[in-house]
Amino acid sequence: MQKVLVARPIFPDVIERLKQHFEVDWHNGDVLPADELKRRLADKDGALTAGDVIDASVLAAAPRLRVVSNMAVGYNNFEMAAFNAANVLGTNTPDVLNESTADFGWALMMAAARRIAESEHWLRAGKWEKWSYDGFLGSDLYGSTLGVIGMGRIGQALARRARGFNMNVIYHNRSRVAPEIEAELNAEYASKQDLLRRADHVVLVLPYTAENHHTIGAAELALMKPTATLTNIARGGIVDDAALAVALRERRIAAAGLDVFEGEPKLNPALLTVPNVVLTPHIASATEATRRAMANLAADNLIAGLGEGPRAGRPPNPINADVIGKARS
Ligand code: GLV
Repeated sequence: MQKVLVARPIFPDVIERLKQHFEVDWHNGDVLPADELKRRLADKDGALTAGDVIDASVLAAAPRLRVVSNMAVGYNNFEMAAFNAANVLGTNTPDVLNESTADFGWALMMAAARRIAESEHWLRAGKWEKWSYDGFLGSDLYGSTLGVIGMGRIGQALARRARGFNMNVIYHNRSRVAPEIEAELNAEYASKQDLLRRADHVVLVLPYTAENHHTIGAAELALMKPTATLTNIARGGIVDDAALAVALRERRIAAAGLDVFEGEPKLNPALLTVPNVVLTPHIASATEATRRAMANLAADNLIAGLGEGPRAGRPPNPINADVIGKARS
C-alpha cells in the first residue's frame, strides 16, 4: 500500500476514505514545523496539505513523494518550479469554494462599509447611551462603484452579486476577461490606478505571486477615495498591512475588511489598534458544505493522482498536469 501524510486536522470521514487506498499518517495537530514535516514525508508517496510550505528542500527530503494535494484554491505555498523539476504533481481545490468565498467577500465589504464590527464593539463596551444622527456614519453600497482586482472565478462570483445592489462594476485583471463575461457582469475593465481612483469599494481576489506582492501599498492607498473601503479575501502579502494600518488610522480611506494577513496567523499589531477595520481569521470559504467539498476534492485529487480509484491517473485539479506519468526525479 502507498503511504500518505495528511499534514493537518481534517474531517475524520475523509481520513477514512483515504484509508481505503493508502496507509495514512495523520497529523491531527498544530502546523508541523518544517523539519518535522520533512521527517514525516521521508517515506511518503503523497501528501494532503493546507497551506504547508512545500519547497525544493522539502521535496529533496521526500524522495518518494509524487503528489501533493492542497486543500485550498491558492497554492502559493507550493514552489511550483521545484515540483516541475522533481516531477511532483501539485493539485488544488478550485470552484467548489467560489460562491461561499464570494458571499464572505460581500459580508466583509458590507461590515466595513457600514461599520458593523466597530459599532458592535462600542455597544458591547457599554458606550451606547443615546441615538445620534451622526453615530457610525458609513459608506453606501447600493448604487456605488465596486472595484474588483482579480477577475477570476471568485471575482466573477463576487461581481455577479453586485447587480442586486445596482452597483457599477469596474475590474482590473492581468488580462481582460471574455467580452461575454464583461457583458454578463456589466463590468468595465480599468487600469489598477484608474480603478483605485474611481471605486467606492475595492475587493482583492487575486492569487499571491511574487509579482502581486504589495499590489496595494502606500502609493495605491493614496489614490483611493477617503470614503472608500478595501477588502482582502485573497492572500496576505497582496496588501502592505503596515501601510494599510497607517491609512486607516489617518482616515485616508474609510475602512477595510481583512480575512488574510501578512505572516498569518500572526498579524501586524498596528491593525489590532485601528477601529475601522474588520478582521477575520482566514474563513472566507468556511461553511460546513464548502469545507467538506474542499476536503473531499483534495482527497479525490490525492487518490487519483497516486493512481487509485475510478479516476486513476486523471486527478480533477492538476496544477502541473505535464508531470503526470513522468518518473519522480
Ligand atoms: C483559501 O485561502 C484557499 O486558497 O482556498
